[in-house]
Parts: sequence; C-alpha cells; structure tokens
Amino acid sequence: MRVKVAIIGSGPSGLLLGQLLATAGIDTVIIDRASREHILGRVRAGVLEEGTVNLMKQAGVGARMEAEGLPHDGFSLAFDGRDHRIDLFGLTGGKRVMVYGQTELTRDLIEQRESDGRPTIYEACNVAPQGFDSARPFLTYDKDGVTHRIDCDFIAGCDGFHGASRKAVPEKAIRTFEKVYPFGWLGILADVPPVSEELVYANHPQGFALCSMRSQTRSRYYIQCALDEKVDDWSDARFWDELRRRLPTHHAEAMITGPSFEKSIAPLRSFVAEPMRFGRLFLVGDAAHIVPPTGAKGLNLAASDVHYLFTALLEHYQGRSNAGIDAYSAKALGRVWKAVRFSWWMTTMLHRFPEAGDFDQKIQEAELDYLTHSRAAETVLAENYVGLSY
Ligand code: FAD
Ligand code: DHB
Repeated sequence: MRVKVAIIGSGPSGLLLGQLLATAGIDTVIIDRASREHILGRVRAGVLEEGTVNLMKQAGVGARMEAEGLPHDGFSLAFDGRDHRIDLFGLTGGKRVMVYGQTELTRDLIEQRESDGRPTIYEACNVAPQGFDSARPFLTYDKDGVTHRIDCDFIAGCDGFHGASRKAVPEKAIRTFEKVYPFGWLGILADVPPVSEELVYANHPQGFALCSMRSQTRSRYYIQCALDEKVDDWSDARFWDELRRRLPTHHAEAMITGPSFEKSIAPLRSFVAEPMRFGRLFLVGDAAHIVPPTGAKGLNLAASDVHYLFTALLEHYQGRSNAGIDAYSAKALGRVWKAVRFSWWMTTMLHRFPEAGDFDQKIQEAELDYLTHSRAAETVLAENYVGLSY
C-alpha cells in the first residue's frame, strides 16, 4: 500500500488529521493497535475549546456536536464553603467552551471516515515507523500473523503517550521534560442530572473534586485520590459520600445520585518531548505531550497540533512551500508549553499535595482569594481556559 500520509493512532488527533486531509484530497491510512470497539468505548475528556469546535466544523463533522453539545459561558471555583463564578464569556469578550465528550467526538470522526470509505487498520501489532530520516519513509506492522508494509511521504505519530512513534526516535535526538503528581483522579459516569448547570472545580481540605457532565441527564464526576487507591475499593455509595463532602453545602444537598456505569482512576502527569518533528515523522497530541486533566487541555492541545500540521501539509502539497513543515515543531511547542503551564497551575491551586505544609496551604488560599477579588487574575484564568488562539 502507498499513501501520502500514514497516520499511527485512531484517537482524536489521528482521526481529526485524517479528516482534514481528506477535505483537501490528501489520502491517508490510519493504523491502530486497538480494536474499533475498544476505541469507541474509551471515556476521557469532555470540554472543547472554540478552536477544537471550529476544527471539527472545518473537517465537516460538526453537525451532531452543534446539535447535542452544551455551550458553557462560565464555571465555578468552589472553596471555603462557597462558589465563585468565572464568567468566561464576559472576561474573554464573548468566548465560550463546548461540553461534548471525547467519546462522541471520536465516534463522529470514525463514522464519517467509514462512510467516506477511507482505510483504517485496527488491531495491528508491532507498528514501526521507519526510514523517516530519508525521503522514503514507511511503516511496517503485523496483522493475523503476516507482516505488512505501507509506503508514504510522511508519518504522523498520533499514537498517544505509550505509542510506537516517539519510541522510534533515537534517544539522543529527543529531550523530555516530566513532572509526576503524587495523586490521581477517580472518575465516574452516571445517568443522573448534573448538580449544577456549569462545571464546578472544588478545592477542599479532603482534596480536589470536579463536577462535570456529558448531557442534561449524564454526569461526569471526579475526586482526587491517592495513587495506591483501587477502583474496587470505591463503591458508588462511598464515591457519592466523598464527593458530597468536598462540595459546598448547597451543591451537596442538591446532588442526585445513582448507579455509575464507568469508574476508573487516572494518574496525573505533565510531560513534553522536544522537538515534535524528526525528518518526515511528526509527533502529534499525547504522543508528544501529556498534561494533568485540570483545565481540560489534553484533547484541545491535540487539536491545535493537528491544526499546525494540517496547515503545513496543505502548504506542502499545494506546492507552495515547506516553511510550515519546518516551523511545525516550534509553533506547536510554543502553544503546548503555555497549556502545560496552565494545567500545572490549576492543578497546584486546586489539589491537596501530601507533602504540603501550612505555608503551601496559605499560599493556595491567597491565590484563590486573589482570583476572586481581581478581574485581571480572573481574566488570565478565563483566557487560558477558553484556549489561547492559534
Ligand atoms: P490518544 O487518544 O491516546 O490516541 C492514541 C491512539 O493510538 C489510540 O487509539 C491507541 O490505541 C493508539 N496506539 C497507541 N499505541 C499504538 C501503537 N504502538 N501502534 C498503533 N496504535 C497505537 N483530557 C482532558 O482534557 N480531560 C480528561 O478528563 C481526560 N481524561 C483522560 C483519561 C485517560 C485515562 C487518558 C489516557 C487521557 C485523558 N485525557 C483527558 C487526555 C485526552 O484524552 C488526550 O489528551 C487525548 O486523548 C489525546 O488524543 P490523541 O489522539 O493524541 O491520543
Ligand atoms: C472534564 C475533564 C476535565 O479534566 C476538566 O477539566 C473538565 C471536564 C470532563 O471529563 O468532563
């Protein structure tokens, strides 16, 4: 098989890139080690920046998102028993975010790709990007006991943090930066109405909590937990009790509970690999960087990488120039580091750190107090939350 762009990974970055390239008549194959069912069953992010929403529309897959997604003009910071609303719309001159699950976004992209008849190979083993330092890159992979080869002009490594693309780069060519946080998030999905119309990010002495949603009838809730916690030790009743304890009374009393149908623990990490381009191999999304989920930047960063790479490839194939390809890594990383900083800051401000002393506690309280009394501070938060422009 030969294609212009071989994409490793059928997550949001690979799928969105494939769809944008399709609109420009640039052919792709997507290859993933997981099954279609596994990919469609993953529950992850839930908040889309305007830039991500626009890319979905540009790719021609925005219809269901526009019909079913929930535009949000603000969110609450809860601490010290009270709520403080961050007016995203007012503070940013009319910007908002869209609550629409990554699971739904992935489904829209997969279904569009299938109805367009574009190729995706699932359950591929030993996917290996090769020859990307030359003009003739290619991929090999095993499927059903047979080794296959795909020749291409470029390889997009959209295969997440544990993927093969970053690992294929010689160690001396790449530099990595990492911070691991001493806690995780325990998250559930339940078919109960959300406790509040907008998201609530709560700082509490027992630890962080987040009230989010997927629709008017489906809630997504998270609580900070220790890294050695086991999901099986958390009955629904224990989860609801702990969540209510970490929220201001008016939310705790209004909370409607019910059986959860998804429950999982995610560790928190900040990670960046530099550069994001190695000859004809590009790293995109989680393959190049991970952020802690506080502030909902992971999926949105994957989307901005896709924007930069799509624009660069378009410029290349239209015969105009390779300037975009040469600038891809620096442009993407410029935005990545600002989101890494923002999600680190939100995480630091809202979580209980096991090693924190009284001093750290007072600094956290001062930060929250400052935010609620300074329009300048709120504006910085809002501008980053809705997403820096690209
Ligand atoms: P991924 O979604 O990871 O997709 C990568 C794809 O590559 C997968 O389909 C995988 O099967 C495939 N792949 C991996 N290795 C190989 C290989 N060797 N060969 C072939 N294919 C391979 N962000 C938020 O903003 N909020 C959240 O609440 C949130 N929760 C998260 C929970 C979890 C458990 C995880 C892992 C991430 C979460 N994120 C969250 C981050 C967000 O989901 C990611 O930033 C986003 O999925 C990145 O998209 P991606 O396409 O770059 O990578
Ligand atoms: C969700 C996840 C986040 O990390 C966040 O900051 C907001 C919402 C969610 O899954 O709904």
